[in-house]
Amino acid sequence: MANNISLTRYLVEQQRVDGSIPSQLRLLIEVVARACKSISHAVNKGALGGVLGAAQTENVQGEIQKKLDIIANEVLIEANEWGGHLAAMASEEMEDIYVVPNRYPQGEYLLLFDPLDGSSNIDVNVSIGTIFSVLRKPEGAAVSEADFLQSGSQQVAAGYCVYGPQTTLVLTVGRGVAMFTLDREQGSFVLTQEHVTVPEDTQEFAINMSNMRHWDAPTRRYIDECLQGADGVRGKNFNMRWIASMVADVHRILTRGGVFMYPWDKREPNKPGKLRLMYEANPMSWLIEQAGGASTNGHQRIMDIAPAQLHQRVSVVLGSKNEVERLTRYYGEHSAQP
Ligand code: AHG
Ligand code: MN
Ligand code: MN
Repeated sequence: MANNISLTRYLVEQQRVDGSIPSQLRLLIEVVARACKSISHAVNKGALGGVLGAAQTENVQGEIQKKLDIIANEVLIEANEWGGHLAAMASEEMEDIYVVPNRYPQGEYLLLFDPLDGSSNIDVNVSIGTIFSVLRKPEGAAVSEADFLQSGSQQVAAGYCVYGPQTTLVLTVGRGVAMFTLDREQGSFVLTQEHVTVPEDTQEFAINMSNMRHWDAPTRRYIDECLQGADGVRGKNFNMRWIASMVADVHRILTRGGVFMYPWDKREPNKPGKLRLMYEANPMSWLIEQAGGASTNGHQRIMDIAPAQLHQRVSVVLGSKNEVERLTRYYGEHSAQP
């Protein structure tokens, strides 16, 4: 790998190699990266910038918004609305889609984002992030919410930026996964890892264990077996991590493997899960698959789910392939029982 390849250079060279990043898409990715840089600065200032704490408002999911949820949402919209590359945006923090105002040209892409993932970690100085997913606007009439309801397999770019000890942007356009670290002195994202791969096997799982009594049988069986360690059927010990920022948990899995689970549970039986399909599960699933891992809701590949609603939720199991396959088998065996 040549030294000091900026995100811009990576995108230009990638387009030359296989034509996978046309100029409008390159502009879009660069604008999202620029927005993430500003969010990173706001996150870093913390109490000094007056950005911590709650905002006294609720989002469409009925969750109390943090100041940074709103700031990050505004930064992403303001950065992206004028460039001519987008037709509309959708966000965890907005009930309806945001159509590019008609004073700006409309482009052919749709952008979805979770502006600030891991909100409960903002005030306690633990890693948080921004997740994004890019779709092509279907041809035809004026843009509408229905245009967004495409399965994850239709994504043309996806990624996240994690604001941790380092700020790292992780990207796929369907040709593997690349990581870029923010060089604060230069003010640019620099390629620090290409061809990211998730090991097929792991001895580390991530799940919120406090929900154990609400889980379904396959989830319980899998975690019980992990907890039995070397004394049980798995014949090896497992370690556990739960950061409560999907971005940070997925980043660890992309770096050293593991399995991440936020399954359906009995607390809210009518909801398929906690996480959102369109701007959390789909982009993360594509990254994981592009790195050789797998992602399912237990019964179906997440990226094959045909969305019915912009903010719909989904049960998520993703990470090291052999563990995800084992869990899928447990779900299958369970539903086959009389
Ligand atoms: P968000 O902050 O965007 O609402 O997402 C938080 C999500 C996800 O990042 C994390 O894995 C999960 O919620 C944590 O949930 P618990 O607090 O229930 O563990
Ligand atoms: Mn989130
Ligand atoms: Mn969020």
